[in-house]
Amino acid sequence: MNKQKNAADLPRYALILGSSSGFGGAAAVRLAKEGYDIFGVHLDRRATMPMAEEVIGKIEAAGQKAVFYNANAADEEKRKEIVADIRRQIPPGDYIRVFMHSLAFGTLKPVIEKDPANALNKANVEMTLDVMAHSLIYWVQELYWNDLLGHGSRVFAMTSHGSTNVVPMYGAVSAAKAALESYIRQLAMELRDVGATANAIKAGVTDTPALRKIPGHERMIRTALGRNPAGRLTTPEDVANAIVALSSINAQWINGDVISVDYGENIVDG
Ligand SMILES: NC(=O)c1ccc[n+]([C@@H]2O[C@H](COP(=O)([O-])OP(=O)(O)OC[C@H]3O[C@@H](n4cnc5c(N)ncnc54)[C@H](O)[C@@H]3O)[C@@H](O)[C@H]2O)c1
Repeated sequence: MNKQKNAADLPRYALILGSSSGFGGAAAVRLAKEGYDIFGVHLDRRATMPMAEEVIGKIEAAGQKAVFYNANAADEEKRKEIVADIRRQIPPGDYIRVFMHSLAFGTLKPVIEKDPANALNKANVEMTLDVMAHSLIYWVQELYWNDLLGHGSRVFAMTSHGSTNVVPMYGAVSAAKAALESYIRQLAMELRDVGATANAIKAGVTDTPALRKIPGHERMIRTALGRNPAGRLTTPEDVANAIVALSSINAQWINGDVISVDYGENIVDG
C-alpha cells in the first residue's frame, strides 16, 4: 500500500486519452485551472489540429504544463513510449492523480444488413472494442508498471446510455461500453492495494464531434432536450466539473461505479 499523503501533498498530474476535444478537452482545461499539469493523447490530422492547439493554449493560459502526444492510443508501442516519457517528466515518488479514458473511435454500422459490405465486420468490431474498451486496461497496467498510480489516483472512463440500451448503428460501440464498465469494476477491485479508484462516467447527450457522427443524432438531441429536467443538453464542462469533484480525496470511497452526469436525463420517461 502506498504511503498515504495529505490532500494538499497529492501530486497534480493528469493523463487524458482523447484530450483534444469534447469531454477530454474540457477536463484538461478544467483540471489545469485546478493546478494540474496535463499529459494528453489525441488523434488529429491537419484539419482538426487547431482543436488540440486551442486546448493546449488554454492549459498554458492557466499557468500549467501541457504535453500532448498525437498518436493512436490503441498502438502498443506508442503507449509504452508515451508512458515512459511521462515517467521521465514526473519526479520519482509522484504519479498521475487523474487518468481519464475519453476516446471516440468506433464503427457505426448495423449488425443486420442485406449487403455484407455495409454490415459490421470482424475488423470493425475488433477495432472499436480495442480503442474504446480494451485500451483502458492496457493503459492502466502500463501506468501501474511505471509506478505512476498511487494513493488517491482516479481512473475515469466515459461510458454512455448505449451500454444498456439499443441505439441504431451503435452495436459495436454499445458492446465497447458494456466492456468498459466491466473493466472499470475489475480495476476498482484490483487497484485496492494502490489506493486508487476507478469509475465510469455516464454523460448525458452532449453536442461534440463524436455525437455528430452518429446517424440519427438530431433525434437523440431532440429526445434529450425533451427529457432532461434542465431542458438543455449536457456540456463537456458539466462533465469536467464532475471529474474535478470526484478527484477530490473526499471521493475516495466512490469506487467501481457507473456515475451518471446528466442532470437526471435518463431517469425521466421519454
Ligand atoms: N458526446 C456524447 O453525447 C457522449 C455521451 C456519453 C459518452 N460519450 C463518450 O465520451 C467519449 C468521448 O467522446 P466525445 O463526445 O468527447 O468525442 P470527441 O470526438 O469530442 O473527442 C474524442 C477524442 O478522442 C480522440 N481520439 C479518437 N480516437 C483516438 C485514438 N485512436 N487514439 C487517440 N485519441 C483518439 C480524438 O482526437 C478526440 O480528442 C467517447 O467514449 C464517447 O462514447 C459521449
